[in-house]
Amino acid sequence: MSGDIGKVERGEWSSRVGFILAAAGSAIGLGNIWRFPYVTGQHGGAAFLVLYLLCVLVVGLPIMVAELTIGRFSRRNPVGAIEVIRPGSPWKIVGYMGVLTGIFILSYYSVMAGYTLGYIGKTVARSQITFADFTANAWISIPLFLAFSVLTVLVVQGGVRDGIERWAKILMPVLLCLLVVLIIRAVTLEGAGAGLSFYLKPDFSRVTIKTVLAALGQAFFSLSLGMGAMITYGSYLSKKDNIVTSGCYVALFDTLIAVMAGLIIFPALFAMHMDPAEGPGLVFVVFPKIFAAIPGGNVIGMGFFLLLSIAALTSTVSLLEVVTSYLVDERHWLRRHAVWIVAGLCFCLGVPSALSMGIVPALGDLPIPGGSILGFMDWLFGNMMLAVGAVLISIFTGWVWRVSRAAAEITIGYPGFGRISVILSFMLRFICPVLILVVLVFLILDAF
Ligand code: PFF
Repeated sequence: MSGDIGKVERGEWSSRVGFILAAAGSAIGLGNIWRFPYVTGQHGGAAFLVLYLLCVLVVGLPIMVAELTIGRFSRRNPVGAIEVIRPGSPWKIVGYMGVLTGIFILSYYSVMAGYTLGYIGKTVARSQITFADFTANAWISIPLFLAFSVLTVLVVQGGVRDGIERWAKILMPVLLCLLVVLIIRAVTLEGAGAGLSFYLKPDFSRVTIKTVLAALGQAFFSLSLGMGAMITYGSYLSKKDNIVTSGCYVALFDTLIAVMAGLIIFPALFAMHMDPAEGPGLVFVVFPKIFAAIPGGNVIGMGFFLLLSIAALTSTVSLLEVVTSYLVDERHWLRRHAVWIVAGLCFCLGVPSALSMGIVPALGDLPIPGGSILGFMDWLFGNMMLAVGAVLISIFTGWVWRVSRAAAEITIGYPGFGRISVILSFMLRFICPVLILVVLVFLILDAF
């Protein structure tokens, strides 16, 4: 079985569509349907949405292109890629940071993904258990966390191309259709209008530097940027491929799904007089209520949580793949050993996050950013570390490797790129680093 993945790792995606689906699979996940709505809710709605879209366009896209280009040029994992481009330089640290960030994100992400898995069963069984009680039950949440971790290992071990690529092709369009059905239901609920204005009518007076950082962090998290996932996936791209248009498709699909999730959550939330700033439990509280209000909601609900679990799985696979490809390429581990050991480590690291969701109440109410262990991990690794990683990747591409060399790589599959390379150059050298650094500095000042 492990031979399969070996083929993908040294080889290429089966087609351009295959790559777009796999990369979109990495990007589309809990970040879009769980994280985006709750972060938007906490940061005031529409103004956050506008900032988020700007971050994707101005910062996310150039860094996406930079990561894919580094990957395809070097055909390596994030650490090896930087070593190929600048041998012996301290820039390799950026690669190590990516691997480490991947491990930590995977640890708490799988906890949430486990809940999603459990909600399939909960919907089928028509259980009335609340989200708080569900996560506070160690006999439910820990085995689900473990089950999801094992599932991720089996996929990464068993073959990304034959497994994930084929599944994603069928299931992503199904998820899209289901979201459309749910949007129609949500916006036609009585009182949905208030939710639509919360989500779509910006009030910039409430925007602070924290809002901007949250938007930036969400853009990186959602697009899987700042930790080398796209370097790893780019390393399987064919030279014939057009990196720029492929990257744009991935960003477009990812943003579309997030925006659609908001169109379901906020109208439904306001119709049911709930608090948009509810926090990480938002999706798990609101969606079941929508399903309860639809005829056949049970089946739709089951389908929804199933698809969400699969979307989460295509993301955890990419997280595990970053760490695995490093251990296999650079440390010459057997892939079979690497996946199990890394997943075991991530499981141990994720236990405090799982406990902090109600099993050990003290871990859920701490005087730290994010409020709980899980919230803190998400703040530190899902926000800060991705932003730091992204700024370093943009400086590395813009100033160290040089955009002219990146442009030469892009031009192989996109002969007309030369004319617009100056835009990428300007973005990567000036706009991305300055913007991200300013936000990070303000944030650090704000913390003291
Ligand atoms: N982009 C994924 C999501 O939105 O759920 C999460 C993620 C995957 C982040 C892979 C970072 C990463 F490298």
